[in-house]
Amino acid sequence: MKLSHALSVLIIAWLTVIGHTQAVTLEVKTGNSTCIKAELSASFSITYNTSTSTKTAKFFLPDSSMVDASSSSCGTDSSSPWLVVVFGPGHALGLGFSTNGSLYSVANLTLQYNLSDTLIFPDAGSSDVVTVVSSSVGIWATMNTTYRCESPSNFSVGGGASVTFSGMRLEAYMPQNDLSATESVCTADQAITTAPPTTAAPTTTPVAPPSPPGTPERGTYSVNNINGSVCLLARMGLQLNVSYFSLSQNKTVTELVNLSPNETSVSGSCEPSSASLVLTQEQVTTLSLTFTLNSTSNRYHLSGITLLANWSDMTAPFWASNTSLDYLRSTLGRSYMCNAEQTLAVVPTFSLNTFRVQVQPFEVTTNQFATAEECQIDQTQMLIPIIVGAALAGLVLIVLIAYLIGRKRSHAGYQTI
Ligand SMILES: *[C@@H]1O[C@H](CO)[C@@H](O)[C@H](O)[C@H]1NC(C)=O
Ligand SMILES: *[C@@H]1O[C@H](CO)[C@@H](O)[C@H](O)[C@H]1NC(C)=O
Ligand SMILES: *[C@@H]1O[C@H](CO)[C@@H](O)[C@H](O)[C@H]1NC(C)=O
Ligand SMILES: *[C@@H]1O[C@H](CO)[C@@H](O)[C@H](O)[C@H]1NC(C)=O
Ligand SMILES: *[C@@H]1O[C@H](CO)[C@@H](O)[C@H](O)[C@H]1NC(C)=O
Ligand SMILES: *[C@@H]1O[C@H](CO)[C@@H](O)[C@H](O)[C@H]1NC(C)=O
Ligand SMILES: *[C@@H]1O[C@H](CO)[C@@H](O)[C@H](O)[C@H]1NC(C)=O
Ligand SMILES: *[C@@H]1O[C@H](CO)[C@@H](O)[C@H](O)[C@H]1NC(C)=O
Ligand SMILES: *[C@@H]1O[C@H](CO)[C@@H](O)[C@H](O)[C@H]1NC(C)=O
Ligand SMILES: *[C@@H]1O[C@H](CO)[C@@H](O)[C@H](O)[C@H]1NC(C)=O
Ligand SMILES: *[C@@H]1O[C@H](CO)[C@@H](O)[C@H](O)[C@H]1NC(C)=O
Ligand SMILES: *[C@@H]1O[C@H](CO)[C@@H](O)[C@H](O)[C@H]1NC(C)=O
Repeated sequence: MKLSHALSVLIIAWLTVIGHTQAVTLEVKTGNSTCIKAELSASFSITYNTSTSTKTAKFFLPDSSMVDASSSSCGTDSSSPWLVVVFGPGHALGLGFSTNGSLYSVANLTLQYNLSDTLIFPDAGSSDVVTVVSSSVGIWATMNTTYRCESPSNFSVGGGASVTFSGMRLEAYMPQNDLSATESVCTADQAITTAPPTTAAPTTTPVAPPSPPGTPERGTYSVNNINGSVCLLARMGLQLNVSYFSLSQNKTVTELVNLSPNETSVSGSCEPSSASLVLTQEQVTTLSLTFTLNSTSNRYHLSGITLLANWSDMTAPFWASNTSLDYLRSTLGRSYMCNAEQTLAVVPTFSLNTFRVQVQPFEVTTNQFATAEECQIDQTQMLIPIIVGAALAGLVLIVLIAYLIGRKRSHAGYQTI
């Protein structure tokens, strides 16, 4: 096994997620007026020492993250605006802002993490709270405009730690209480909408489009809660259908990619009314499925799908997310099942094809699926053989009756002769 392979296996093995990939909304206020507002998804990658080696923890900024009102500030004459977000036991992310009157920028990015959190940092060699700061961030926008960057952008924050923001909308020094309608779009997003850079001219001959990958293999994935019991169970085949700009072909291509269960690492989280399953394939593809429980109706559904893909042929990492979906509906205490292939549309450039799905995101007991609730397509498809069978039985009956009548007639015929 190559060292890089061993390392990536190690990294995948310790991939930990303490929340969802959903965007969080953060606001800093003085009195009634908002001065900083941010909507973003953030993921962290932190390398730390164990007693014998080093490990990398990967996790997302959880939904439950909160603005720390006591350390955040709108700034004064002598101090700068400061957004501090806290999450988990003693973790924090800080963004300091500065302006020169016409532009504002993120002057520094601070990350504080607590190595005592064994959920994120298993086997950490120390229990320190570590603070790292990066002072050249490169997020800037015109005053009175919203900074927008949908594309994932990665920032290294000191030794071995990095933050990736996606789906970011941010404004500081706000003239009114909501994000300005005018936007300053980051260069990565501009690259997606405009022509590709001509400097990236490929010298090789364009590769042929990959042949369709066939039906994906069915994988079994489970998420455990803190006390080690399985809280989410899924068995399914998954296929990604992604449209992106291909560097080698110099055009937008639609590619089908199957998730291989043996190359996929699993993480996720379970909360009373939401549960998520995060599948990572070879560190370049991360797919997150979020299920929501409606405790009034005792029904659950797949409400959010997020994909982060950083494939070698892409001009920029691909990020797509939709958190208002309504798929795979079932009842609490049951599992959802669908043998038929389904296409789950997420955004125009990304859809997810599912094959032979059985999933139970809530109330899993004894590590097994509860009674399944079958999807409508399966029920319809099951009806077809029943209808055909009934039709055949009817036909046999008609033939039999006809035969009996015919026999009786011919019998009667003999008697008259
Ligand atoms: C803030 O809002 C409250 C109620 O909306 C209002 O009574 C109060 O005067 C406002 N304060 C300021 C400083 O605008
Ligand atoms: C890990 O340990 C090495 C040497 O033992 C040290 O140089 C490095 O700074 C440590 N890294 C962290 C993140 O503590
Ligand atoms: C770090 O985590 C430990 C264990 O979760 C907790 O007891 C401690 O208070 C945390 N430290 C800070 C500064 O929050
Ligand atoms: C971050 O930048 C702000 C604004 O320039 C500054 O006030 C603050 O002291 C900086 N923080 C750190 C930790 O460098
Ligand atoms: C602010 O900084 C930008 C870029 O460094 C510069 O182009 C601009 O002139 C500056 N504005 C002022 C008012 O200094
Ligand atoms: C931003 O908007 C505020 C209020 O509308 C205005 O006073 C200020 O001059 C504007 N700043 C710039 C740089 O346009
Ligand atoms: C990519 O295609 C565009 C038009 O479709 C063409 O103008 C451009 O030269 C091509 N770039 C390369 C590197 O082939
Ligand atoms: C594990 O924790 C969950 C709630 O977090 C609880 O419902 C369940 O009973 C616990 N299971 C065991 C075996 O302790
Ligand atoms: C993939 O998506 C495209 C539209 O984006 C659609 O035309 C195509 O049929 C899809 N392919 C599969 C196999 O789902
Ligand atoms: C995963 O399985 C596929 C086929 O089932 C195989 O081609 C591939 O080499 C396997 N990968 C690993 C890392 O075992
Ligand atoms: C939960 O279900 C009830 C009853 O079907 C419905 O009225 C309510 O809007 C649902 N709540 C959410 C948050 O969807
Ligand atoms: C995407 O991959 C490239 C090279 O493999 C790496 O340099 C870059 O940081 C990755 N981007 C993200 C957002 O992970």
